Formats: sequence, structure tokens, C-alpha cells
Amino acid sequence: MENITVTTSFSSYNTVSELPQDAQQLMAKAVETRKNAYAPYSKFRVGAALLLDNGKVVVGSNQENAAYPSGLCAERVAVFQAGAIYPDAKILILAISAAADEKVVSEPIPPCGACRQAIAEYEFRQDSPIEIYFMGQEGKILKSDSLKNLLPLVFDRNFL
Ligand code: THU
Repeated sequence: MENITVTTSFSSYNTVSELPQDAQQLMAKAVETRKNAYAPYSKFRVGAALLLDNGKVVVGSNQENAAYPSGLCAERVAVFQAGAIYPDAKILILAISAAADEKVVSEPIPPCGACRQAIAEYEFRQDSPIEIYFMGQEGKILKSDSLKNLLPLVFDRNFL
């Protein structure tokens, strides 16, 4: 038997004003996009914004459904939309912000497991890392240099 240790790392920022300029602007878009979340069930509003290498910004917000599993997270709405509109563009940066109607979200909110898997597909497809910044509605911002930090032992096309 052998133990395998996987290490992962993130950067932590205290305020949005500490972020690089392009990430600051993108986070502002993610915050703005939260207002378009359709979240009558969870009352948890997530906004995601992607910067593409063609200069375009694509946004997404969570879209819920009375049949709960039929809804979709903000991150997947954004990456699928980018894939649908700009199939040849690479995603450079993803910014995510979450807020709740009934409490203040001051922890960084990371993408859920299903969104990590979906984002991984785009990293493999474009063969370059996606920088991911995530936050609540206030407080610290965490940054991952690549989806790989968020999903060690990822399942990808190489296993097929
Ligand atoms: N949600 C997201 O949009 N992104 C995540 O990564 C976590 C969860 C949404 C899904 C659902 O509409 C609400 O937040 C509560 O789970």
C-alpha cells in the first residue's frame, strides 16, 4: 500500500480592488449578473462571467425549476452559452459571485462538482488553463490558476 498525496493551491485576495484589472471588471459583471438569477426556490443567486480570448464577455446566472434537477447553475449557463455562441474562442477567466436573499454570503462560493466537471471539458478542449475567481457578495476572493486545482483526479476524454 502506498499513500498518494495530492496538493492544490489557491490565491486569496481581501478585496476586489486587489484583483488584476481584467478580473476586477469581470467580477463586477458577475455581481451585476446575479440580479438575473431565477432562484425562487433556493433564494441563492449566483452570477458568472467569462472573458474570452476574442475580447467578448459571456455571462450566466442560475436558472431554477419547479422540478429541481432541471435547473442549472450559473457557471454552466455561462460556459455552455460561450460554447454555443463562440465555439472557437478560448475562455481566459471565469469570475463567480454568489448572494442570498435571506443572509449575507461572505465566504468565497466555489463552483459545484458538476460545474467543475463541465468547466474541465472546456479546459481540455481549448488546451489552456482557465483562471477562476470566486467570492460571495462580500469578503475574500479566491483564485485558482486552473480548473485542475478544483478537481484533482478529473475524469477526462483521455480515459475514453
Ligand atoms: N448554484 C450555482 O449557480 N452555482 C454553483 O456552483 C452552486 C450552486 C446554484 C444552483 C441553485 O440554483 C442554487 O445555487 C442553490 O444551490
